[in-house]
Amino acid sequence: MNECEIKKRALELLSKMSIEDKIGQVTQITFNADNIEESCEKIRKIKPGSIILCWSSLGGAEKQQSVCVEALNILQKTAVTETPSKIPILFARDVIHGHHVAFPVPLTMTQSFDFDLIERSYDAIREEALSDGIKWTFAPMLDMSHEPRWGRIVEGPGEDPYIGKMFARSCVKGFQTKDYSSENSMLACAKHFVGYGASEGGRDYNHTEISDYNLQNNYLPAFKEAIDCGVATVMSGFNDVNGIPVTGNRKILTEILRNQLGFTGFVVSDWNAIAQLHEFSGFSENPKHSAGLALKAGVDMDMVCNCYFDNIKSLLKEEKITMRELDSAVLRVIETKLRFGLFEKPYAKNRTYNKEQHILLSKKLAEESIVLIKNNDNILPLNKNKPVSICGNFADEGEELVGTWSLDYDKSLNKTVREAIGEFNQNIHNFDESNRDEICLVVLGEKREVTGEAACLADISLSNDKISLIKKVKQSGRKAIGVLCFARPIVLGEAKELFDAIIWCGHGGSMASKAIASVLFGESEPSGRLTFTLPFSIGQLPIYYNSLPGSRKINGYYSDINPRHGNYKDCQGEPAYPFGYGLSYTTFKISDFACDSTALINELKNGKSFGVDFSVKNIGNCVGVCVPQLYIRDLVATTVRPLRSLVRFCKVTLPVGETKSLHFDIYLSDFGFYTETGEFIVEGGKFELYLGENCLADNKKTVELI
Ligand code: GLC
Repeated sequence: MNECEIKKRALELLSKMSIEDKIGQVTQITFNADNIEESCEKIRKIKPGSIILCWSSLGGAEKQQSVCVEALNILQKTAVTETPSKIPILFARDVIHGHHVAFPVPLTMTQSFDFDLIERSYDAIREEALSDGIKWTFAPMLDMSHEPRWGRIVEGPGEDPYIGKMFARSCVKGFQTKDYSSENSMLACAKHFVGYGASEGGRDYNHTEISDYNLQNNYLPAFKEAIDCGVATVMSGFNDVNGIPVTGNRKILTEILRNQLGFTGFVVSDWNAIAQLHEFSGFSENPKHSAGLALKAGVDMDMVCNCYFDNIKSLLKEEKITMRELDSAVLRVIETKLRFGLFEKPYAKNRTYNKEQHILLSKKLAEESIVLIKNNDNILPLNKNKPVSICGNFADEGEELVGTWSLDYDKSLNKTVREAIGEFNQNIHNFDESNRDEICLVVLGEKREVTGEAACLADISLSNDKISLIKKVKQSGRKAIGVLCFARPIVLGEAKELFDAIIWCGHGGSMASKAIASVLFGESEPSGRLTFTLPFSIGQLPIYYNSLPGSRKINGYYSDINPRHGNYKDCQGEPAYPFGYGLSYTTFKISDFACDSTALINELKNGKSFGVDFSVKNIGNCVGVCVPQLYIRDLVATTVRPLRSLVRFCKVTLPVGETKSLHFDIYLSDFGFYTETGEFIVEGGKFELYLGENCLADNKKTVELI
């Protein structure tokens, strides 16, 4: 069906719907997997537009009841044969970064800087979710954040809008495929619109204060990309933006989301978020008031609090809302179901998929997501024939590495780091001071329960007991290799100097341990790069690479600090490790950086690109992967611009001694920015381009835009 046919058919359906049918379509309910008949009864009574296959709002932190095609088809049969409108139900679940095979958590996987691989991964995840009858997922989570204390930073793409855009595109395309109407497609959901990642103090569900300028240039770009890629749905966040809760915020959900960004799908609230307007936020008096505010703001579907179901009829009667407003919401839901072929194919099919292939994909993504951040004297990769000892709180962890929001993973896939290392080197033993091996793997990590929703940390420093363990290893005369399995950025403190080598592994999913072993022994090359800043001290927060210049040359991030005006008297300004950082087992030389010294705005406006040429040479002694990155700075603008903004990168594998000539094309969109009212502008003047292997790149060219 084309869009005209969809709209026509939706209007036909709407014309035959009672008020009860309409109210049902804008209602999402939970279900009880243990009592299907009870759920069928709820369907007959409520006639819901959707059922969320999740038992609590902390689905990511709790094991949920499993789902199966047969049960869902019983529910669907009830909807399409025993309700007046016979409209199929959308079955939804949080399939965030895997289903039966867990892939790395989003913040970890973006470290791969390999968004084609990420898209293929979400294509595999889609196959698994569909095999359980799940048609709608609440992913991608696109909340850019500068707050490592916030547990949900691990669910999103990190601190950079460009990475956020790449992640949005890969995830939406992976889930929705090219043919939305196919029964092989799923509905994606860009969440949490918008600004949730700015939760004050990193405390989940907290207030967010975001200027329009910051919103337009940092928090919206990833959502704009998802919308431009055709994302089917958007979820409104729990947070308030500048005192107006998003779920009751017409400026955010209609003026920006629909009028500025052109979103045409439907908006679902977050879990109970409509009720929270009166329960917590003090934004409304009662459920009826909340329901009216949310519907008028632009929330089309109520996730599980029944505010719509209980109050819309009386709101209509009291003329607090109009039938037109209700019809608009219902039409968006029905049009989306038509667009995704739900009427033609309402039932889930038992389908198979290639699990072995998915396992290999998950392992490859986990390998590519590992970041080598230190490697003194090239002690890595390890020698398989040399004995090695192991210690640390995550040496015998496997399941914890699947990460938060893993509801349906296959436990049998998980191996511990010790087991995975043992597959390469049988001569592995516990660290104690008696044996005389040279190297000790110190495997440290955070449990998944301190990441994700409602899981924030006031202190993200490496704990004293872990620091003491590293010191003990060093005092024994061994080299200490840090194998760090923290999903969120943490403060390494003394460990930064104590470790002889460090690999940053995040929470890498079902194959995390195998990926760690593969990188440690050099079977795969560490090619990950940080998509967030690793702070030197918690006192530096917030600290992020694309910060604005400030009023004097004191921005410590780029270590051009003027001692007289130091940021801090008790701490350096620079982070421990910067955005984009990561090492290889070899070394590279980036040279021949060339581009024109001027660019013509009119040519750029006509779609012409601005070319940057350079070459990369492997000057080390083994094959390796280089991730050249191009950053831009607008030196003078009517609103100050960030010191660096990532605009391009690539991943290139080079054998020893080989040189590769490379080229980046940048466009008008890379030179401009959004005003606080959402207008995109490009201003002439000088720009600096920085080319290198992380945001501190100082290989610089100046370009005059005229
Ligand atoms: C949760 C989360 C949201 C999730 C939803 C459904 O509270 O905020 O990300 O998709 O509820 O589980």
